Amino acid sequence: MKEIKFYHGENIPLELHKVRVVQKLHLVPIERRLEALYEGGFNTFRLNTKDVFLDMLTDSGTNAMSDNQLAAMMQADDAYAGSQSFYRLQKAVEDVLGKKYYLPVHQGRAAENILSNAYVRKGNLVPMNYHFTTAMAHITQYGGKIAELLYDEAYVINSSHPFKGNMNIEKLEEIIKIHGAKNIPFIRMEASTNLIGGQPFSIQNLRDVRAIADKYNLRLVLDASLLGENAYLVIQREEEFKNSSMGEVMQTITGLADIVYFSARKLSSSRGGGICTNNFEIYRELEALVPLFEGFLTYGGISVREIEAMAVGLYETLDETMISQSPSFIAYLVNALDAHGVPMIKPAGVLGAHVDAMQVCDHIPQKEYPAGALAAALYLISGIRGMERGSISNQRDEYGNETYADMELVRLAVPRRVFTLSQIKYVEDRMSWLYDNRRLIGGLRFVYEPPVLRFFMGGLEPVSDWPEKLIAKFKEDFGDSL
Ligand SMILES: Cc1ncc(COP(=O)(O)O)c(C=O)c1O
Repeated sequence: MKEIKFYHGENIPLELHKVRVVQKLHLVPIERRLEALYEGGFNTFRLNTKDVFLDMLTDSGTNAMSDNQLAAMMQADDAYAGSQSFYRLQKAVEDVLGKKYYLPVHQGRAAENILSNAYVRKGNLVPMNYHFTTAMAHITQYGGKIAELLYDEAYVINSSHPFKGNMNIEKLEEIIKIHGAKNIPFIRMEASTNLIGGQPFSIQNLRDVRAIADKYNLRLVLDASLLGENAYLVIQREEEFKNSSMGEVMQTITGLADIVYFSARKLSSSRGGGICTNNFEIYRELEALVPLFEGFLTYGGISVREIEAMAVGLYETLDETMISQSPSFIAYLVNALDAHGVPMIKPAGVLGAHVDAMQVCDHIPQKEYPAGALAAALYLISGIRGMERGSISNQRDEYGNETYADMELVRLAVPRRVFTLSQIKYVEDRMSWLYDNRRLIGGLRFVYEPPVLRFFMGGLEPVSDWPEKLIAKFKEDFGDSL
């Protein structure tokens, strides 16, 4: 994609789309935001969007849809079995992801459930570059364990490494030798590794993983939920692919995996998900589980309208100007906050800008959840809803002990084509004010902790009256501004 240069040399991302449908936003007063935090247990998942100004919780199901996606939804063919909409989607999967056999599921975690049900047995180990919350929960639910095999540089916050999502090949082989290939149902590679800051792997690394999978006769499973963004960064950062198209890079990646699964909420800016493969035996092994858990094989729990939107959305991932919008806004925000001294995950990845709460809140011990506290504080002073990606998002071990996360991050998601640059500048302004006043932020403790995926519905409370002190300072600096 050609860079668009500005006469005055300012380097800002330029939107290559226009806004045709809008939704009104509300910035409620800070007093109401405090009430909303108490009502939602200081958990940003539990906020009502009527109290949220900029919703940077996630890109899942929140990317803007295109005119063509909306138009396609109008021609949806409603049928329990054999819907034409499904066949259009099946063709899109084959054209874009290069896989002949496609099983529809209602969202990404449903694919994880089916794969874990089919392949994971008690005592198994699944090596992966890094876990995603729902992938890990399903694997452990079926009695398996995970092994995270990133290189050390993946954990370096202030880094310039282009591929922090790479899997450590030496460790992978070592772990296979220790645990035995027969105890490993599959190797999992996640595109644009979500929980370490949306960091990509290189195709060379994936080729190396493939070689090990072949050597030990293991299945290689790709989580392609953020495949488009990983492919975009491969074009930007991996010399061999600098002149390749999105389609070529995406199919080079998917071609190296035996099984590809995805959340369509992310990959194709719609709802739904899927599992696809070129291996008929694998297809047969998984096929029966779709009607059991999801719905008939030609809808898999997805509405036909969304199936149409997914098909068009998949083709649209081939458009670099669409995929690049979010990463270029993220890079802008990361660089701007970095310039204010806010510790950010670098290099800028995809999906969102990631603030290092471990450094911002180095006065809050991990047992008081610094990332959860920072996410709550940011919402309080700005109406911006980010997501905690730290120890609250971790699950307890099999003995019920807390496991502390490697990183305490607050993710400020930038869904595709949703925010304007002035909104991003507001995020920069409020986050840098909060950084300057970070000592006023205090910790959190659980008052209600669900047994699985506790971060979704868990309830917390502040360990002191720090929210009130933060409000007092906000009023001092901003007067009666919202
Ligand atoms: C990398 C990755 N895998 C899987 C999932 C799960 O997908 P879903 O939310 O559609 O169940 C997500 C969701 O955010 C994800 O980011």
